[in-house]
Amino acid sequence: MALPLVLASLSKLTEGDLSSVVATFYTASPAGFAALSNTTTILEASLTGTLADGSPFSFSIFPAEASVVAEIDGSTGYWGPSASWSSSPDAKHWTIHFNSSSDNVSGSMTLTSLAPPHLPCGAVKSGATEMLMPHIGWANAVPDAVAHVHFHINGTELAFTGPGYHDKNWGDRQFFESVGSWYWGHGRLGPYSIVWFDARTETGVEHFSAYVAKDGKIVTGSCANGSVVARPWGGEDMYPPPATTQNPDGFELRFADVEGRELVVNVTTAVTLVDFGAVYERWTGTLEGGFLDGKGHWKGLALLEEFKI
Ligand SMILES: *[C@@H]1O[C@H](CO)[C@@H](O)[C@H](O)[C@H]1NC(C)=O
Ligand SMILES: *[C@@H]1O[C@H](CO)[C@@H](O)[C@H](O)[C@H]1NC(C)=O
Ligand SMILES: *[C@@H]1O[C@H](CO)[C@@H](O)[C@H](O)[C@H]1NC(C)=O
Ligand SMILES: *[C@@H]1O[C@H](CO)[C@@H](O)[C@H](O)[C@H]1NC(C)=O
Ligand SMILES: *[C@@H]1O[C@H](CO)[C@@H](O)[C@H](O)[C@H]1NC(C)=O
Repeated sequence: MALPLVLASLSKLTEGDLSSVVATFYTASPAGFAALSNTTTILEASLTGTLADGSPFSFSIFPAEASVVAEIDGSTGYWGPSASWSSSPDAKHWTIHFNSSSDNVSGSMTLTSLAPPHLPCGAVKSGATEMLMPHIGWANAVPDAVAHVHFHINGTELAFTGPGYHDKNWGDRQFFESVGSWYWGHGRLGPYSIVWFDARTETGVEHFSAYVAKDGKIVTGSCANGSVVARPWGGEDMYPPPATTQNPDGFELRFADVEGRELVVNVTTAVTLVDFGAVYERWTGTLEGGFLDGKGHWKGLALLEEFKI
């Protein structure tokens, strides 16, 4: 059972500011999520990212106790005294605090939602599935947001404004037994907020989740076969990706149906935020794309990840 809560945010990559940050709150053991290492606790809050010059940082806090209180659609969580989040009851405004003098990290970020929440197959409604693929649950409370970030990371200030995001995954067995490979990301391309999942089970069955919102409304929310196909390009771009391969330079995304047209987006990785051997990578990157019929062409920013298991 894993309960990470990711509140990610990234800044003006294109202007040479490489700042980014991801906060994750876990209730998971290494037996549930093998990327974790602490066998004595299921509680961990981590703050990971890159400073403005692109240098990576990573802090983990292992509290003795945690609490989560839900209110309407929002929640408040404390991971010990040093890490917490809170949201407004409508889940549109979020604040995350980290304050650990022993770890030399303090500060906060806020998210103001720009796009409606969704589940793997579309809008949140009664009876909608939360299953992204067998044994993996996913809920995306904030697919896109304006994030304001201000932390002091071991004596260096990390302060920026950029696209933000919040979701949650969980599972009922070891993640690494449920997933063969996995491409996920979110970003903003011109007027569109986009989120993609193109993942394979351990037996190679491909599952999709496509989300596109514009002007505060969902225009695509689908888990249909091929609703968003992500394929690697550059570097070692083999698909399906064996765990032994090096990383690609980017991904091509094809959203099959965005207001009746095909949206093609080229993601180019820019900064590596997490490098977990060959198994896991997290990057910030740039987006460029438009509709296949030639109408509209935009650029943007993304945060994305790849598992190869
Ligand atoms: C693992 O978690 C415990 C709390 O249960 C903490 O005291 C310890 O420092 C953590 N170990 C590592 C290696 O971080
Ligand atoms: C952070 O923790 C320190 C030491 O516990 C405390 O003095 C300070 O007021 C806290 N700051 C915030 C913003 O919570
Ligand atoms: C914080 O800075 C100190 C002194 O420069 C360094 O030894 C330590 O590794 C840093 N901690 C982290 C988590 O980056
Ligand atoms: C905290 O940050 C300061 C300033 O960079 C550094 O001198 C100190 O070594 C750091 N302390 C720890 C415990 O990392
Ligand atoms: C994506 O953009 C990069 C950089 O401009 C280019 O080299 C690459 O060929 C493009 N890939 C696709 C699949 O369009």
